[in-house]
Amino acid sequence: METLIVYESLWGNTRQVAEEIARGAGELSDVLTLCAVADAPSSLAPSLDLLIVGAPTHAFTLPTPSSRAEARTHGAAVPHAPGVREWLATLVVESPPARVAAFDTRQGRSFIVGSAAKSIARAAKHRALFVSDTADFVVTSREGPLEQGELERAYAWGRALTAPR
Ligand SMILES: Cc1cc2nc3c(=O)[nH]c(=O)nc-3n(C[C@H](O)[C@H](O)[C@H](O)COP(=O)(O)O)c2cc1C
Repeated sequence: METLIVYESLWGNTRQVAEEIARGAGELSDVLTLCAVADAPSSLAPSLDLLIVGAPTHAFTLPTPSSRAEARTHGAAVPHAPGVREWLATLVVESPPARVAAFDTRQGRSFIVGSAAKSIARAAKHRALFVSDTADFVVTSREGPLEQGELERAYAWGRALTAPR
C-alpha cells in the first residue's frame, strides 16, 4: 500500500497530528510519504492508494492568504508558500487513489467552530477526489498545544485508515 500525507501547519499542531497519523498508517503502508504542503507533489502518482490531507481550521474553513497573514500578526512562522487550499486547486489527478481522507485541527469540538476537513472534502471533489473519512483534532488555544489524548487518537486514526476493510 502506498500512502501520501500532506499537511499545512502554522504553529506545528497540525504537523504533530500528521506525524502521528503517519506513524499509525506506516504500520501497514509499504511506501509512506509525509510532507508539508510546500514540498507536496503537484500531481498524484497513479500508484497511490491512500491520500490524507490536513490543515488547521481558519475562520470556519481552510486557511486563506489573509487568515495566514492574521496568524503572522500573532507570531506564527507562516511559510510564504501555497497552503492546502492552493495546492488542491491546481493538483493534477490522473488516476484517483482508492481512498482519500481529510483531517483538521481546531479550537473546539462544537460544529460552530467550523471544520477545515469539510472544506478539504469540498475542494477535493473538484479534483475528482472523494473524501470518505474525516477527523478533527482539538487544540487548547489558537497556538496550541493539542488537547491531551489527541496524538494517540491521531495514531489510531492513521492505523485504521490503512487497515483492510
Ligand atoms: C486567523 C485564524 C482563524 C481561526 N479560526 C478558527 C475557527 O474558525 N475555528 C476554530 O476552531 N479555530 C480557529 N482558529 C484556531 C486554529 O484552528 C488553530 O490555530 C490551529 O488548529 C493550530 O494549528 P497549527 O499549529 O497547525 O497552525 C483560527 C486561527 C487563526 C490564526
